[in-house]
Amino acid sequence: MPTRSDALALVQEWVDNEGLRKHLFAVEAAVRYYARKLGGDPEIWGLAGLLHDLDWEKHPDRHPLAAVDVLRQQGYPEEVVHAVLAHRPEFTGVEPATDLDRALYACDELCGLVYATCLMRPTGIDDLTPKSVVKKLKDRAFAAGVDRQQVARGVELIGLDQNEHIQNVIEGMREAAEVLGIRGVDLAR
Ligand SMILES: [Fe+2]
Ligand SMILES: [Fe+2]
Repeated sequence: MPTRSDALALVQEWVDNEGLRKHLFAVEAAVRYYARKLGGDPEIWGLAGLLHDLDWEKHPDRHPLAAVDVLRQQGYPEEVVHAVLAHRPEFTGVEPATDLDRALYACDELCGLVYATCLMRPTGIDDLTPKSVVKKLKDRAFAAGVDRQQVARGVELIGLDQNEHIQNVIEGMREAAEVLGIRGVDLAR
């Protein structure tokens, strides 16, 4: 099975945009957190998070089908491929069906909102609570690119209370906070 460093090499090769790379690291961390919570394999789940938008920059019109071609060629597990397909069901026709599929779908947009919320706070993610994120969720002008409907569907899919899901995403992203540059100490620079 390909390792995380194989996946990282793919990200280096395919993704130039710093913001998209950070998005991939954020989603990877959140999905890994859910793997530990739901009894999944963090290595496998992490790969799905890290690679789900691999082709977004180079093939936005085929996303994520171009990524899936590469993943299949390189022998990534079928559960990773399935999760990548199911994070965009309206395009691929593949609906989220497994715990990994649901976790990836549920973390994807929310990670963007949590990230944007962190940037607005001097202390970043350090003491971030779901309450602050919910406030931003309701403010549709804030981070307008974050699809609120997709966030709501994610909450439904993961089957948790919205606050609990947001808390889990925050906890997961804390583990990548340094790479994401969202700690208070990073934002003070
Ligand atoms: Fe995507
Ligand atoms: Fe994404």
